[in-house]
This record gives sequence, C-alpha cells and structure tokens, in this order.
Amino acid sequence: MSILDNRPGLTAEVYKVAEVTGYLWQKGWAERNGGNITVNITEFVDDEIKAMPAIAPVMKIGKVLPYLKGKYFYVKGTGKRMRDLARWPMQNGSVIRICDDCASYEIIADEPVLPTSELPSHLALQNYLLETGSKYKATLHTHPIELVAMSHIKRFLKGDTMTKVLWSMIPETLAFAPLGIGIVPYALPGSIELADATLEAIKTHDVVLWEKHGTVAVGLDIMDAFDQTDVLCKAANIYMCARNMGSEPDGMTDEAMKEVQDVFNLPKKRPC
Ligand code: 13P
Ligand code: ZN
Repeated sequence: MSILDNRPGLTAEVYKVAEVTGYLWQKGWAERNGGNITVNITEFVDDEIKAMPAIAPVMKIGKVLPYLKGKYFYVKGTGKRMRDLARWPMQNGSVIRICDDCASYEIIADEPVLPTSELPSHLALQNYLLETGSKYKATLHTHPIELVAMSHIKRFLKGDTMTKVLWSMIPETLAFAPLGIGIVPYALPGSIELADATLEAIKTHDVVLWEKHGTVAVGLDIMDAFDQTDVLCKAANIYMCARNMGSEPDGMTDEAMKEVQDVFNLPKKRPC
C-alpha cells in the first residue's frame, strides 16, 4: 500500500520529482546524497490522508512557521540519493504533515524516511510562499558545478556582480531569471543561520547561491525550480567555456540587455 495508490494527481506530482532527480544526477549536480527537494502537496490531500497517523516520532523543525500549520509536503530523505529517488520516490522520500504548533512535523507515509537535513531552509521558503499567497509549490537545493565554482571566486560574490555576468552571457538568462542570483555567504549546511539568510535572499532573487555549496530555487512545480537553476547554470557554463578559450568573454552590452528588459517587459519582482 502506498499513499500514491488511486491518487493520480499526487502520483503525477511525485513522479515529476522523480523525473527531475534523474536530470540532477545526469547533470552531475547530485553526487552521492547531494541536494534535496520539498513540494507542497496539500492540494492533493483528502480525508483519508488527513486521518493517517504518524509512523515515526514527532520531530522539531527548528523554527516556528505559522503559515505551514496542517500543510503536507513530499520531502527527499536525508542521506538518500537523487538517482535512487528517480526510480523509487517513496523509498527515498516521505510525506510529512506540519503539526498544530507550527514548529514540528510528523511523517505519515509511505515509510519512516527521515526528511532532508536542509528541511529548515526548505520549510522557511515554503512558509514565505504561503504567506505571500504565491502559487509556487516546490523548492530545490542542488550542487550545480559551474555556479558552485564561481562562488569560490571573491569578485563574483559582491552585490549583483555574478548576476550581471550571467545575464550578459545569453539573452534568455535575463528573460527567464530577471531577478538574478542572490549570494548567501558560507554557512553550515542544515543550519538555521543558512535557512534565515536563504529566506532573505529569495525575496529578491530567482535563485539563491550558497557560497561554496550549491543553489536553492523555488518554482511553480519542481520542473520549474529545476529550469530556473538550469538557465543560470547554462550561463555560468558559457562563461567558463569562453574563459577556457583564453579570453574574458565580452558579454552582451548594457544597451542590449536593457533592450531585452524593455521589449519583454521583465518583472522586477517574482510574480505570485
Ligand atoms: P540531505 O541528504 O540531508 O538531503 O543533504 C544533502 C545536502 O545537499 C545538504 O546540503
Ligand atoms: Zn547541499
């Protein structure tokens, strides 16, 4: 028996996650257990799911997140591999319910797979998305090689320097990531400090880059969050290819970028 049985909507959403985790592995962004995913699945919850008991002891989130009360999430398991999740999503992830205290959660299905160690960051973002009435349901943390490499170079970490370089590599970057990439200085993986800094940075950016670690993106669904990361990583890849040919790339001119901004009427804020 699985929570996915006879629930085509929920099954489709979970298998979208499985498809994306396959891409993460193929791209080399998901070594071992690297990266994690959370999807708000509350819209698929029926009375039978609401009545499901906890199958593991209640756990603390480490933060109080008032907008998450009674919400349900599919979450990657800590220590689980993306490449395994691609084939067996319910053995490498679980469904959790946020308790009434808004500070703890319980696992309800299918197996007592402990959620990712980055749960504080994921849930802090999910809380913000609900607070702002956003339609975004998915959060993705991954280890994209080129973006992490750039985060080791000091000059890229100042203000919007990295965003400008990435935008200038190919017009689509500006079009699809008009808020750019926000930098979060290095913090311990899984820490509340990292979660708090990520939350601040995502308010004004499409994707957040954890210095010397990885990215965090939000999206309408997991495919969308993957695309946001992929668009920025592609630009970083182009930058490095040009550097490998022996030159600093020219980049699009400021006028060319302004033209893209104006013609496509790009948002200065994330649409809800
Ligand atoms: P988990 O296996 O706990 O999800 O951790 C992977 C990771 O990328 C931590 O930042
Ligand atoms: Zn990580």
